[in-house]
Amino acid sequence: MALMILPIFGAVSVFEALLALVVLCLVYLALKRYSTKIPEGLRRLPGPRALPVIGNMLELGRKPYLSLTEMSKRYGEVFQVQLGSRPVVVLSGYETVKQALTKQGDDFSGRPDLYSFSFINDGKSLAFSTDKAGIWRTRRKLAYSALRSFSNLEGTTSEYSCVLEEHICKESGYLIKELNNVMKTEGKFDPFRYIVVSVANVICGMCFGRRYDHHDQELLGLINLSEDFVKVTGSGNPADFIPALQYLPDKAMKKFVDINSRFCNFVQKIVSEHYITFDKDNIRDITDSLIDHCEDRKLDENSNVQISDEKIVGIVNDLFGAGFDTISTGLSWAVMYLVAYPEIEERLFTEIKEKIGLDRTPTLSDRNNLPLLEAFILELFRHSSYLPFTIPHCATKDTSLNGYFIPKDTCVFINQWQINHDPELWEDPSSFIPDRFLSDDGTEVNKLDGEKVVIFGLGRRRCIGEVIARNEVFLFLAIIIQKLHFYQLPGEPLDLTPEYGLTMKHKRCHLGVKLRDENAQ
Ligand code: HEM
Repeated sequence: MALMILPIFGAVSVFEALLALVVLCLVYLALKRYSTKIPEGLRRLPGPRALPVIGNMLELGRKPYLSLTEMSKRYGEVFQVQLGSRPVVVLSGYETVKQALTKQGDDFSGRPDLYSFSFINDGKSLAFSTDKAGIWRTRRKLAYSALRSFSNLEGTTSEYSCVLEEHICKESGYLIKELNNVMKTEGKFDPFRYIVVSVANVICGMCFGRRYDHHDQELLGLINLSEDFVKVTGSGNPADFIPALQYLPDKAMKKFVDINSRFCNFVQKIVSEHYITFDKDNIRDITDSLIDHCEDRKLDENSNVQISDEKIVGIVNDLFGAGFDTISTGLSWAVMYLVAYPEIEERLFTEIKEKIGLDRTPTLSDRNNLPLLEAFILELFRHSSYLPFTIPHCATKDTSLNGYFIPKDTCVFINQWQINHDPELWEDPSSFIPDRFLSDDGTEVNKLDGEKVVIFGLGRRRCIGEVIARNEVFLFLAIIIQKLHFYQLPGEPLDLTPEYGLTMKHKRCHLGVKLRDENAQ
């Protein structure tokens, strides 16, 4: 057996040395855990026993939303796992998550300093960076107001109620043409590949005032990288919790760094062009409005939060990034469900035919008139839970939840998947049943049940694009369901197993689609 010479202890085997190391680590972890002083009246967080160095990393497995849901059954709605060197609190249960993120919102509104986050938007991301509360809040307000103004802006003709509606109607028109063409040439299509360009064009229109062709290689190259981006940003990425891994060659991490720099370069090029052609009297899009804000601020001596121009204009990077992957993943799932449940697809088509007719394009104002479609979207969000966790949060100060002590800076995972599949809230949670959200006569959506579907987060960090996203998912779907019939192709299996990441995608696949009215093109 190989021998190791340790000067103090004499000759010991490798096995003995490793055993000693493991014992030392265990003692260190136990001391660390039990040296945290728990304030009187509060309890220590429950959770599984952790291994040295890796903690509970192995138990997380490849589907952390499932393993952490299982653990919540054993340890409760507030428990702790040890991921590598870091304790992480996991929150489940609608009421507990609501309590943390809304009632105690300030305590849980921070972001942890994770290794992977430092590469996003050069460490200056609004959504992922560890900005202090004042700076984050000011940037969030700016982003929200830019987004709202540029989606509510009047359309170019009175046909459209706002710019958002105009972009969606035009992009779904192009999408329908593209799908028709690809079916003629190839006889099949990959839903994510086409939907993602249409959705990217809607946010590009608002952020940069431009759109791209479905075959534009620069845009395609960039948005096709989103799959690799979400794999690394999913909660529980090992390199974020085991520092040693940051120094080992890691293909996924290398790709991730590369994606972020390509993404920044893409946006930076457009922003530089905007600076050159900027005209204060003609604010064209969100980028212009953010540049304008920087100019105004220089004249405002009373502005009390100092933020660099880079951080202000960099907001557009977050809006563009968050604006296409989340919505296109949702729409792509929607098409998969339509194909998996053809009887629901037919009911949705009938609802549109009866309530809107087939002669005019649906608009945003039709939303209250299509309860089955609204229920389908809610069930799509609930059942797929394709954002299984929010972006990780962290405690901004020593705090407590449900009687458990949570120290400042503790990383917090919010398990949205658990809430959306909690049998306490949902009957038969694993079945896809849009009707669960409808009144008995099918004419109304139960709003209270709808609010219990958590996919945009809650409270202070709740998604700022939620209203746009819900409208966009609705209108894209209403238009494509009115015009198209999707179906499964022989020999092309339909796999609805999600692949884990910040947004979970279904496996790339091929489907068939045909125009409902062949004479329409
Ligand atoms: C169906 C589509 C979408 C879903 C499911 C979604 C979901 C989420 C979730 C879960 C979060 C994290 C909340 C948290 O950490 O607690 C988030 C944050 C965010 N979302 Fe969305 N989102 C969507 C669309 C959008 C769109 C269209 C935009 C903007 C154009 C957007 C912009 C943002 C931003 C900027 C944040 C960070 C907020 C912050 O950290 O303060 N999202 N979103």
